[in-house]
Amino acid sequence: MHAVPLDAFIPGLRLGKSIYSSDGRVLLHQGTVLKDSYVRMLRERGIKMVFVLDEADRVAPEATPEDVIPDELRQVTVTHVRALMEDTRAQVAKGGTARLTLDASRARQRVNDIVEAILADPQAVVNLQELRSSDDYLFGHAVQVCVLAVMTGVSLAYTHEQLVDVGVGALLHDLGKLALPEHVWQRPPDRLLPVDGSILRDHPVRGFEMLWRQEGVALLAAHVAFQHHEQPDGRGYPRGLKGDAIHRYAKIVAAANAYDHLVAIGAQGRGWLPDRAARWLANHPERFDRQVVGALLLNVALYPLGSAVRLNSGETGIVIRVRKGLSPKPVVRVVLDRYGRRLAPPYDVDLLREENVRIERAIADRAELEARLTQR
Ligand SMILES: [Fe+2]
Repeated sequence: MHAVPLDAFIPGLRLGKSIYSSDGRVLLHQGTVLKDSYVRMLRERGIKMVFVLDEADRVAPEATPEDVIPDELRQVTVTHVRALMEDTRAQVAKGGTARLTLDASRARQRVNDIVEAILADPQAVVNLQELRSSDDYLFGHAVQVCVLAVMTGVSLAYTHEQLVDVGVGALLHDLGKLALPEHVWQRPPDRLLPVDGSILRDHPVRGFEMLWRQEGVALLAAHVAFQHHEQPDGRGYPRGLKGDAIHRYAKIVAAANAYDHLVAIGAQGRGWLPDRAARWLANHPERFDRQVVGALLLNVALYPLGSAVRLNSGETGIVIRVRKGLSPKPVVRVVLDRYGRRLAPPYDVDLLREENVRIERAIADRAELEARLTQR
């Protein structure tokens, strides 16, 4: 399965994942063969990318990744966050941050649903980077940071109530952006101008002002908004807090926020592969709490299910099994030999058992693998 932009669309491709409308209804089911009229309908709805099935799915049918929360819950939560943020923006435009009243109890209910979905499947690992268009970047990002923060909290043995608090903080961590000029927060971070950047640094304070006395938002969640750009070395903002002066929840949201930014848009506007983003987080203990990063990374697949990898033997394979906490050593179905020739039949190698076999690198561009797999 791989993502294709709908403008470069080739008819006849089969959908790898169902597509939902903003109120959670299925628009097109997984497996549907895409045709021009469907593509037009999707584009009219602002959908720019879809997952499609490829030859690798036929060679490794068990490697189709599932989201860690039900698709419908994700879609409904994104829609809810959008409505909440639009309402917030309208209120703040009228009366400033002081008179804002949020319907936070519904946000809390959504987070509670997310917590329950995550607790229901303790072995789940994030395998999928959901498709996000730039116009709803902020909303999709908020929901994914919430999911990652809750999963991190589960790994840190938090109680149900703590999970909901950290989840609400995560969902609303960037709310303060809505008090800033629209062009600043509407632009994804990769397209920010330097002058926007300095205005943007106000958003943690604005977020705290907006959240601290809202009913249904724990004071701690307001502090998450306040502190999520602080760093353990004291070089963060707005207050330059150090080490333990930064609340644990804010450290979790800081790490989840950075991880999601990196895989969604990277540092140069192209999303990074999970293993690269994970390494970057782990290599910056001055910015991110080490223990928190460790707990976060237990929950993301470094080499996601269905992704292509090059082994140290020179062979190419598809990840067919990821074990929680052991994601650097998945089970791989080897499909190409070291000369790039298709192996028939392929064979499976469990990197946990084979000490001498390692993943050399993840393969981002599937086109060559696809071409070699379909070669006769
Ligand atoms: Fe932020």
